[in-house]
Amino acid sequence: MVEQKTRIDAAAAFIRHQSAIQPVVGLLTGTGLGGCADTMQVEQELAYSAIPHFPVSTVSGHRGRLLLGHLQNRAVMVFQGRFHLYEGYRPQEVVFPIRVMQALGAHTLIVTNAAGGLNPAFAPGDIMRMADHINLTGENPLVGPNEPDWGIRFPDMSAVYDPRLGEQAQTAARTLGITLQNGVYAGLKGPSLETPAEIRFLTTIGADAVGLSTVQEVIAAVHAGMRILGLSVITNVNHPDRPVPATLEEIIAVADQAAPRLARLIEHVLEHLE
Ligand code: HPA
Repeated sequence: MVEQKTRIDAAAAFIRHQSAIQPVVGLLTGTGLGGCADTMQVEQELAYSAIPHFPVSTVSGHRGRLLLGHLQNRAVMVFQGRFHLYEGYRPQEVVFPIRVMQALGAHTLIVTNAAGGLNPAFAPGDIMRMADHINLTGENPLVGPNEPDWGIRFPDMSAVYDPRLGEQAQTAARTLGITLQNGVYAGLKGPSLETPAEIRFLTTIGADAVGLSTVQEVIAAVHAGMRILGLSVITNVNHPDRPVPATLEEIIAVADQAAPRLARLIEHVLEHLE
Protein backbone atom coordinates (compact mmCIF):
# COMPACT_ATOMS: atom_id res chain seq x y z
CA MET A 1 0.00 0.00 0.00
CA VAL A 2 2.96 2.28 0.72
CA GLU A 3 4.17 1.65 -2.82
CA GLN A 4 0.72 2.40 -4.18
CA LYS A 5 0.68 5.70 -2.30
CA THR A 6 4.07 6.58 -3.77
CA ARG A 7 2.75 5.87 -7.26
CA ILE A 8 -0.41 7.93 -6.70
CA ASP A 9 1.56 10.82 -5.26
CA ALA A 10 3.92 10.77 -8.27
CA ALA A 11 0.98 10.76 -10.71
CA ALA A 12 -0.72 13.62 -8.81
CA ALA A 13 2.52 15.63 -8.67
CA PHE A 14 2.94 15.21 -12.44
CA ILE A 15 -0.62 16.41 -13.09
CA ARG A 16 -0.16 19.38 -10.74
CA HIS A 17 2.96 20.28 -12.66
CA GLN A 18 1.02 20.21 -15.96
CA SER A 19 -1.98 22.21 -14.81
CA ALA A 20 -2.74 24.83 -12.18
CA ILE A 21 -6.38 23.71 -12.01
CA GLN A 22 -7.51 22.60 -8.58
CA PRO A 23 -10.42 20.33 -9.41
CA VAL A 24 -13.44 20.28 -7.10
CA VAL A 25 -15.28 17.65 -9.12
CA GLY A 26 -13.98 14.50 -10.72
CA LEU A 27 -15.87 12.83 -13.54
CA LEU A 28 -15.22 9.23 -14.47
CA THR A 29 -16.89 8.13 -17.68
CA GLY A 30 -17.56 4.70 -19.03
CA THR A 31 -18.35 2.80 -22.23
CA GLY A 32 -19.35 5.12 -25.07
CA LEU A 33 -19.75 7.99 -22.62
CA GLY A 34 -16.30 9.50 -22.95
CA GLY A 35 -17.66 12.38 -25.04
CA CYS A 36 -20.10 13.54 -22.41
CA ALA A 37 -17.85 16.46 -21.53
CA ASP A 38 -17.70 17.96 -25.00
CA THR A 39 -18.81 21.40 -23.79
CA MET A 40 -15.99 21.55 -21.30
CA GLN A 41 -13.40 24.33 -21.54
CA VAL A 42 -10.39 22.07 -21.64
CA GLU A 43 -7.22 23.62 -20.32
CA GLN A 44 -5.04 20.55 -20.27
CA GLU A 45 -5.32 17.16 -21.89
CA LEU A 46 -3.13 14.28 -20.77
CA ALA A 47 -3.06 10.80 -22.25
CA TYR A 48 -3.14 8.21 -19.48
CA SER A 49 0.05 6.82 -20.99
CA ALA A 50 1.80 10.15 -20.28
CA ILE A 51 0.99 10.10 -16.56
CA PRO A 52 3.50 8.20 -14.42
CA HIS A 53 2.18 4.85 -13.14
CA PHE A 54 -1.27 5.43 -14.67
CA PRO A 55 -2.86 2.25 -16.03
CA VAL A 56 -3.90 2.28 -19.72
CA SER A 57 -7.41 1.22 -20.77
CA THR A 58 -7.74 -1.55 -23.29
CA VAL A 59 -11.48 -1.52 -24.02
CA SER A 60 -12.96 -0.13 -27.24
CA GLY A 61 -15.28 2.79 -26.52
CA HIS A 62 -12.85 4.10 -23.90
CA ARG A 63 -10.53 6.97 -24.77
CA GLY A 64 -7.87 6.79 -22.09
CA ARG A 65 -7.19 10.43 -21.34
CA LEU A 66 -7.55 12.94 -18.56
CA LEU A 67 -8.98 16.40 -19.20
CA LEU A 68 -8.56 19.30 -16.79
CA GLY A 69 -10.56 22.47 -17.17
CA HIS A 70 -13.90 24.05 -16.45
CA LEU A 71 -17.43 22.81 -16.96
CA GLN A 72 -20.18 25.24 -15.97
CA ASN A 73 -17.49 27.34 -14.28
CA ARG A 74 -16.50 24.48 -12.00
CA ALA A 75 -12.94 23.28 -11.94
CA VAL A 76 -13.17 19.67 -13.03
CA MET A 77 -11.03 16.73 -13.97
CA VAL A 78 -12.56 14.25 -16.39
CA PHE A 79 -11.21 10.74 -16.71
CA GLN A 80 -12.29 9.47 -20.12
CA GLY A 81 -11.92 5.74 -19.89
CA ARG A 82 -11.71 3.49 -16.89
CA PHE A 83 -10.15 0.19 -15.86
CA HIS A 84 -12.18 -2.94 -15.32
CA LEU A 85 -11.50 -6.03 -13.26
CA TYR A 86 -12.34 -8.14 -16.32
CA GLU A 87 -9.38 -6.62 -18.18
CA GLY A 88 -7.17 -8.19 -15.55
CA TYR A 89 -6.53 -5.03 -13.54
CA ARG A 90 -6.26 -5.39 -9.81
CA PRO A 91 -8.78 -3.45 -7.70
CA GLN A 92 -6.02 -0.98 -6.74
CA GLU A 93 -5.40 -0.19 -10.41
CA VAL A 94 -9.12 0.13 -11.08
CA VAL A 95 -9.37 2.84 -8.41
CA PHE A 96 -6.18 4.66 -9.46
CA PRO A 97 -8.17 7.61 -10.94
CA ILE A 98 -10.10 8.00 -7.69
CA ARG A 99 -6.92 8.16 -5.62
CA VAL A 100 -5.48 10.72 -8.01
CA MET A 101 -8.67 12.77 -7.68
CA GLN A 102 -8.38 12.54 -3.92
CA ALA A 103 -4.72 13.60 -4.01
CA LEU A 104 -5.68 16.64 -6.11
CA GLY A 105 -8.43 17.62 -3.68
CA ALA A 106 -11.60 16.81 -5.66
CA HIS A 107 -14.35 16.06 -3.15
CA THR A 108 -17.25 15.27 -5.49
CA LEU A 109 -17.30 12.28 -7.83
CA ILE A 110 -19.67 11.93 -10.75
CA VAL A 111 -19.39 8.45 -12.19
CA THR A 112 -21.15 7.12 -15.27
CA ASN A 113 -21.49 3.66 -16.74
CA ALA A 114 -23.38 1.54 -19.22
CA ALA A 115 -25.61 -1.04 -17.57
CA GLY A 116 -28.09 -3.72 -18.45
CA GLY A 117 -31.59 -3.07 -17.16
CA LEU A 118 -33.29 -5.63 -14.94
CA ASN A 119 -36.27 -3.58 -13.83
CA PRO A 120 -39.03 -4.20 -16.41
CA ALA A 121 -40.04 -0.53 -16.19
CA PHE A 122 -36.72 0.46 -17.76
CA ALA A 123 -36.20 0.98 -21.48
CA PRO A 124 -32.95 1.04 -23.49
CA GLY A 125 -31.58 4.59 -23.48
CA ASP A 126 -32.97 5.44 -20.04
CA ILE A 127 -30.64 7.07 -17.56
CA MET A 128 -30.70 5.65 -14.03
CA ARG A 129 -29.54 7.46 -10.96
CA MET A 130 -27.73 4.94 -8.78
CA ALA A 131 -29.58 4.83 -5.48
CA ASP A 132 -27.29 2.14 -4.12
CA HIS A 133 -25.16 -0.76 -5.31
CA ILE A 134 -24.47 -4.41 -4.64
CA ASN A 135 -20.83 -5.43 -4.97
CA LEU A 136 -20.82 -8.92 -6.47
CA THR A 137 -17.32 -8.74 -7.90
CA GLY A 138 -15.74 -10.66 -5.05
CA GLU A 139 -13.14 -7.89 -4.93
CA ASN A 140 -12.68 -4.79 -2.82
CA PRO A 141 -10.09 -2.06 -3.35
CA LEU A 142 -9.63 -1.59 0.40
CA VAL A 143 -8.33 -5.11 1.03
CA GLY A 144 -4.84 -5.00 2.53
CA PRO A 145 -3.28 -2.65 5.06
CA ASN A 146 -5.33 0.50 5.45
CA GLU A 147 -3.68 3.73 4.32
CA PRO A 148 -4.77 6.17 7.07
CA ASP A 149 -3.95 9.20 4.88
CA TRP A 150 -6.66 8.00 2.52
CA GLY A 151 -9.41 6.97 4.92
CA ILE A 152 -10.56 4.75 7.76
CA ARG A 153 -10.39 0.97 8.01
CA PHE A 154 -14.13 0.26 7.95
CA PRO A 155 -15.87 2.96 5.94
CA ASP A 156 -19.60 3.28 6.48
CA MET A 157 -21.64 2.34 3.42
CA SER A 158 -25.11 3.29 4.67
CA ALA A 159 -25.40 6.35 2.40
CA VAL A 160 -22.95 5.89 -0.47
CA TYR A 161 -24.73 7.97 -3.09
CA ASP A 162 -25.25 11.51 -1.86
CA PRO A 163 -29.01 12.12 -1.49
CA ARG A 164 -28.64 15.85 -2.15
CA LEU A 165 -26.71 15.29 -5.40
CA GLY A 166 -29.30 12.69 -6.36
CA GLU A 167 -32.10 15.19 -5.79
CA GLN A 168 -30.21 17.74 -7.86
CA ALA A 169 -29.98 15.20 -10.67
CA GLN A 170 -33.71 14.57 -10.32
CA THR A 171 -34.40 18.32 -10.51
CA ALA A 172 -32.10 18.63 -13.52
CA ALA A 173 -33.94 15.79 -15.27
CA ARG A 174 -37.33 17.41 -14.61
CA THR A 175 -36.11 20.79 -15.83
CA LEU A 176 -34.61 19.30 -18.99
CA GLY A 177 -37.48 16.89 -19.67
CA ILE A 178 -35.23 13.84 -19.34
CA THR A 179 -36.50 10.57 -17.87
CA LEU A 180 -34.38 9.67 -14.86
CA GLN A 181 -34.91 6.25 -13.32
CA ASN A 182 -33.76 5.46 -9.81
CA GLY A 183 -32.36 2.08 -8.87
CA VAL A 184 -29.84 -0.32 -7.44
CA TYR A 185 -26.79 -1.22 -9.55
CA ALA A 186 -25.31 -4.70 -9.21
CA GLY A 187 -21.62 -4.74 -10.06
CA LEU A 188 -20.20 -8.00 -11.45
CA LYS A 189 -16.69 -8.89 -12.57
CA GLY A 190 -17.55 -10.15 -16.07
CA PRO A 191 -16.51 -10.28 -18.84
CA SER A 192 -19.09 -12.97 -19.60
CA LEU A 193 -22.55 -11.43 -19.43
CA GLU A 194 -25.38 -12.80 -17.32
CA THR A 195 -27.22 -16.08 -17.76
CA PRO A 196 -31.03 -16.03 -17.45
CA ALA A 197 -30.66 -17.67 -14.01
CA GLU A 198 -28.25 -14.93 -12.95
CA ILE A 199 -30.68 -12.27 -14.22
CA ARG A 200 -33.42 -13.87 -12.11
CA PHE A 201 -31.08 -13.98 -9.10
CA LEU A 202 -30.06 -10.32 -9.51
CA THR A 203 -33.69 -9.24 -9.74
CA THR A 204 -34.53 -11.29 -6.64
CA ILE A 205 -31.80 -9.69 -4.55
CA GLY A 206 -33.03 -6.20 -5.39
CA ALA A 207 -30.96 -5.04 -8.34
CA ASP A 208 -32.49 -2.82 -11.03
CA ALA A 209 -29.46 -2.77 -13.31
CA VAL A 210 -26.29 -4.77 -13.80
CA GLY A 211 -22.86 -3.74 -15.01
CA LEU A 212 -19.17 -4.57 -14.92
CA SER A 213 -17.71 -1.43 -13.44
CA THR A 214 -18.11 1.39 -10.91
CA VAL A 215 -18.38 -0.40 -7.55
CA GLN A 216 -14.62 -0.54 -6.94
CA GLU A 217 -14.21 3.14 -7.74
CA VAL A 218 -17.20 4.09 -5.61
CA ILE A 219 -15.90 2.12 -2.62
CA ALA A 220 -12.56 3.95 -2.87
CA ALA A 221 -14.42 7.26 -3.19
CA VAL A 222 -16.42 6.51 -0.04
CA HIS A 223 -13.14 5.70 1.69
CA ALA A 224 -11.86 9.07 0.44
CA GLY A 225 -14.91 10.85 1.90
CA MET A 226 -16.26 12.02 -1.46
CA ARG A 227 -19.82 12.98 -2.32
CA ILE A 228 -20.92 10.64 -5.07
CA LEU A 229 -23.40 10.81 -7.92
CA GLY A 230 -23.70 7.66 -10.04
CA LEU A 231 -25.50 7.66 -13.38
CA SER A 232 -26.08 4.54 -15.48
CA VAL A 233 -27.17 4.47 -19.09
CA ILE A 234 -29.46 1.48 -19.53
CA THR A 235 -28.20 0.13 -22.85
CA ASN A 236 -30.30 -3.03 -22.98
CA VAL A 237 -32.96 -4.66 -20.86
CA ASN A 238 -32.48 -8.22 -19.63
CA HIS A 239 -35.44 -10.48 -19.03
CA PRO A 240 -34.87 -14.02 -17.70
CA ASP A 241 -37.83 -15.48 -19.61
CA ARG A 242 -37.06 -13.75 -22.88
CA PRO A 243 -33.27 -13.83 -23.10
CA VAL A 244 -31.81 -11.87 -26.01
CA PRO A 245 -28.10 -11.74 -26.78
CA ALA A 246 -26.48 -8.40 -25.91
CA THR A 247 -23.59 -7.24 -28.08
CA LEU A 248 -20.91 -4.68 -27.32
CA GLU A 249 -21.77 -2.85 -30.57
CA GLU A 250 -25.39 -2.36 -29.43
CA ILE A 251 -24.31 -1.34 -25.95
CA ILE A 252 -21.92 1.29 -27.36
CA ALA A 253 -24.53 2.51 -29.87
CA VAL A 254 -27.18 3.08 -27.18
CA ALA A 255 -24.63 4.65 -24.83
CA ASP A 256 -23.51 7.00 -27.64
CA GLN A 257 -27.10 7.98 -28.29
CA ALA A 258 -27.73 8.73 -24.61
CA ALA A 259 -24.44 10.61 -24.12
CA PRO A 260 -25.72 14.11 -25.09
CA ARG A 261 -28.65 13.76 -22.64
CA LEU A 262 -26.32 12.54 -19.94
CA ALA A 263 -24.00 15.47 -20.63
CA ARG A 264 -26.83 18.00 -20.28
CA LEU A 265 -27.90 16.37 -17.03
CA ILE A 266 -24.37 16.52 -15.63
CA GLU A 267 -23.92 20.14 -16.76
CA HIS A 268 -27.14 21.11 -15.01
CA VAL A 269 -26.03 19.37 -11.81
CA LEU A 270 -22.67 21.15 -11.97
CA GLU A 271 -24.33 24.49 -12.59
CA HIS A 272 -26.38 24.09 -9.42
CA LEU A 273 -23.73 22.41 -7.31
CA GLU A 274 -23.60 23.64 -3.72
N1 HPA B 1 -24.73 -6.82 -18.41
C1 HPA B 1 -23.57 -6.40 -17.88
N2 HPA B 1 -23.02 -5.25 -18.21
C2 HPA B 1 -23.64 -4.48 -19.10
C3 HPA B 1 -24.85 -4.87 -19.69
C4 HPA B 1 -25.42 -6.11 -19.33
O1 HPA B 1 -26.49 -6.53 -19.82
N3 HPA B 1 -25.23 -3.87 -20.53
C5 HPA B 1 -24.26 -2.90 -20.43
N4 HPA B 1 -23.32 -3.27 -19.57
